[in-house]
Amino acid sequence: MKEKLAQIREEAIKQIEAAKSLDQLQAVRVSQLGKKGALTELLKGMKNVAPEDRPKVGQLVNETRGEIEKVLEEAKVKMERLVREAKMKSEVIDVTLPAKKNTMGHRHPNTIALEEVERIFIGMGYEVVEGPEVEKDYYNFEALNIPADHPAKDEQDTFYINSDILLRTQTSSTQVHEMEKGNLPIRMIAPGRVFRADEVDATHSPSFHQVEGLVIDKNVTFADLKGTLAQMAKELFGPETKVKFRPHHFPFTEPSAECDVSCFKCGGKGCRFCKGSGWIEILGCGMVHPHVLEMSGIDPDEYTGFAFGIGLERIALLKYEIDDMRLLYENDIRFLKQF
Ligand code: DAH
Repeated sequence: MKEKLAQIREEAIKQIEAAKSLDQLQAVRVSQLGKKGALTELLKGMKNVAPEDRPKVGQLVNETRGEIEKVLEEAKVKMERLVREAKMKSEVIDVTLPAKKNTMGHRHPNTIALEEVERIFIGMGYEVVEGPEVEKDYYNFEALNIPADHPAKDEQDTFYINSDILLRTQTSSTQVHEMEKGNLPIRMIAPGRVFRADEVDATHSPSFHQVEGLVIDKNVTFADLKGTLAQMAKELFGPETKVKFRPHHFPFTEPSAECDVSCFKCGGKGCRFCKGSGWIEILGCGMVHPHVLEMSGIDPDEYTGFAFGIGLERIALLKYEIDDMRLLYENDIRFLKQF
């Protein structure tokens, strides 16, 4: 019997020493001391032991059980310490390591240019409004005095959704929405995306941005238009910048003009940048055509107004001396990072 017990003890200790985790230790406890464990089995055989020997044998079994439990407990304490130490080690933070660098986002040149234009006009008391990109033919053409047979309406230029609905080709459509509201006077700029069926090249894209301007009030004159745009040009391109107006034609303005700014690279002497002319064209403008006012319910005898349309990409390209419009749409980080 003694031998048997010594065997069980040895086997148990061997298993305890071999255990590599708390779970494995628990398994040893169950297999050695549990209901189906070797010791319990041994106790079942007590009935074969002479009654006078039973207390002695019982004591021996209990001693062995006690010894195994002690070894188990010690192993458990040691194991728990190891687990704790491993966890601490894995959670250590080395405060001397260099911090991870945040990658900074950059604003797109278009966004910078737009914010600049908005800042200038908000400073002059203008409101910033937005109009829909999907537009009715009426707002994009009809109401802007562009009759059905006008070349701009040719399907080569315009993306039609159906015969009545299209992608706006100009932010001028927003003028009509604002005039229809009837809240006079109006002093607004309307930035936004426009669409034209153009092939992509260094100066064209099927989708680009414009900033529309519209002022309607009593006694607004061409002099107001000139003063406003001269101020804008100075703020946008520097205090020395001059403006020049060339007669032009737009169906929705009369008279109409194109506005040039003196080349901010050479100061007007002529350089590669302004193709030797000293001037750079930046926008179209004019006095709102009386017929356009009338169609939107404004009395042209009481009110007059001026309007202008700026190509936003053109401003961004000029300001940052970018020579290919495609760069603005590729969103190459190496390019965008520079602004
Ligand atoms: N909508 C014109 C275009 O896309 C630009 C323009 C010219 C807008 C004259 C105006 C304006 O408001 O008065 O070419």
